[in-house]
Amino acid sequence: MAKSAAKNASGASALPINIGINEKDRAGIAKGLSHLLADTYTLYLTTHNFHWNVTGPMFNTLHTMFMAQYTELWNAVDPVAERIRSLGHAAPGSYAQFAKLASVPDAPVNPPKALEMVRILVQGHEAVARTARALFPLADKAGDEPTADLLTQRLTVHEQTAWMLRSLLEE
Ligand SMILES: [Fe+2]
Repeated sequence: MAKSAAKNASGASALPINIGINEKDRAGIAKGLSHLLADTYTLYLTTHNFHWNVTGPMFNTLHTMFMAQYTELWNAVDPVAERIRSLGHAAPGSYAQFAKLASVPDAPVNPPKALEMVRILVQGHEAVARTARALFPLADKAGDEPTADLLTQRLTVHEQTAWMLRSLLEE
């Protein structure tokens, strides 16, 4: 058995990660992905909240549109968390951790009017896009193609959704 093999909590040997990305870069990328996970989860919850609480003449359109959007966001958190695990780090998964890590604010306590909900979601999708984009240079430098690919997919969704929502606010 290799002398360098780390021991886990139960005393069993664990193999060190050796995927060609150094420890410092793996830690930096995992940190960036943790921000992306927290932002995605927070925006998911706000979108689901708005699906429940939207009112007014656009109810049917927005209720249905928000459902498609929160479902997409819900499905997105899993690959982000599992990429963090593949890089050898723990994935955050509590409201306390997400509150610390997210750049997206929590949903307002009192449900806003329908178009204000749309404005909040445009800003939310743009904020998540900025979080994803900020991680690109490090993923690129480290040769981390799976993370770069994940970031590309998330950027495509957030920028397209921001456009669709923003269109509702225009004449
Ligand atoms: Fe529903």
